Amino acid sequence: MSSNRQEPAPASGKLGVLLVGLGAVSTTVIAGVELARRGLGRPIGSISQLATIRLGKRSEGRTPKIKDFVPLSSLDDLVFGAWDPIQDDAYTSALKAGVLDRHSHIEPIANFLKGIQPMPAAFDQKYVKRLQGTNVIPGNSKREWADTLRADIRRFKTENGCERLVMIWCGSTEIFIKQGPTHKTLAAFEAAIDANDDSIAPSMLYAYAALMEGVPYANGAPNLSVDFPAMLDLAAENQVPVAGKDFKTGQTWMKTVIAPGLKARMIGLDGWFSTNILGNRDGEVLDDPESFKTKEESKLSVLEYILQPDLYPELYKDYYHKVRINYYPPRGDAKEGWDNIDIRGWLDYPMQIKVDFLCRDSILAAPIVLDLALFLDLASRAGMHGIQEWLSFYLKSPMHAEGLYPEHDLFIQQTKLKNTLRWMMGEEQITHLGLEYYLTPAEVG
Ligand SMILES: NC(=O)c1ccc[n+]([C@@H]2O[C@H](COP(=O)([O-])OP(=O)(O)OC[C@H]3O[C@@H](n4cnc5c(N)ncnc54)[C@H](O)[C@@H]3O)[C@@H](O)[C@H]2O)c1
Repeated sequence: MSSNRQEPAPASGKLGVLLVGLGAVSTTVIAGVELARRGLGRPIGSISQLATIRLGKRSEGRTPKIKDFVPLSSLDDLVFGAWDPIQDDAYTSALKAGVLDRHSHIEPIANFLKGIQPMPAAFDQKYVKRLQGTNVIPGNSKREWADTLRADIRRFKTENGCERLVMIWCGSTEIFIKQGPTHKTLAAFEAAIDANDDSIAPSMLYAYAALMEGVPYANGAPNLSVDFPAMLDLAAENQVPVAGKDFKTGQTWMKTVIAPGLKARMIGLDGWFSTNILGNRDGEVLDDPESFKTKEESKLSVLEYILQPDLYPELYKDYYHKVRINYYPPRGDAKEGWDNIDIRGWLDYPMQIKVDFLCRDSILAAPIVLDLALFLDLASRAGMHGIQEWLSFYLKSPMHAEGLYPEHDLFIQQTKLKNTLRWMMGEEQITHLGLEYYLTPAEVG
């Protein structure tokens, strides 16, 4: 991340939000923004739209809304575009996704949604086994796909009169790909594109196209896409901010709330069993073991980093952690997640916490997509590039600099996000020391 502070340029003109994948999450965010613009729905869950930020001392009473403090694009200035191998427009896709109520949230904006047609995708079933689509860029040359995506980006920008663009991967979770030699340097990566190498997944081509065009990119799924040295070199070279990966929504969000609470009180953990049922297309894709492996890696790492067993071996050395996702069609997007947490207190007495979270996956993901789009664009206007660690708040497996461990605790992530906004605008950092309210300045020292 670049460190020279630069006041963000104004958010003038239109911001194009390019979504890869026009499925449940994408249609829920697109419809939600349009409903909010028309006063037909509220953007609940969006920090950029609802949260305030304290500035200065508690006694100063300065707590503007974040959107009034930093120059963010307004919802009215957002224009959406998408790619998807399935031909459905946003209206049909939203109906099929079954997230939003047809009568109150889809039909009133039907014409708007029908106007969003997916561009042909860079797609190969090899990377998402449970998906079939015909709306794909012809041929199977990865170089041609990348070039077509770059041309799409430029055309979208011109046709829609956008000042700036951001791109967010809301596509299916691809199979697990281990970082290898083709991901090490930009030269190796480009050679691998030209050789149609299997290690180059479609999501990497979108990330590559975005960075080549100077478009900030965030990855909402757990697959390898922008989180490897070749892409980070490109982001540095073209001065583009990036973020990832995997939206932090239901069960993992809860984990990053509860686990810091246990650790803060030095409560031990014997085991954490998490299971889910969900029946949307995402659930179907994740039913494939290769896609699930990608997701599992992302979900499992959270506890390890929060609990730091190396620092607290007597509390966290041997806990058992298991995560299951079960595809269960009757539930659609209305996921249910159960957690059984076996904990240990004073004198080793065992206790249990049970969580039964009846959540709606895409309802929790939509505000994250909106915020990532607005904040990545802000970062870009503030001259920031590379990994935007301050956006970890939104992500299950936050990208981080080499040699650093990722910060998973939701509350540390929130402080980091707000302090970054203060820093951007030249406001004092808030340390929460608070002694100045009780001591004289000389005593505080
Ligand atoms: N909903 C959540 O709470 C949540 C949380 C974290 C991560 N995610 C991830 O976000 C992604 C989207 O979730 P969803 O519920 O909208 O899934 P979805 O299946 O409804 O939509 C994904 C869409 O991506 C399309 N797609 C697949 N490969 C593509 C490609 N190469 N190019 C363009 N489009 C492609 C699919 O055709 C599909 O329409 C998934 O990877 C999911 O794992 C979702």
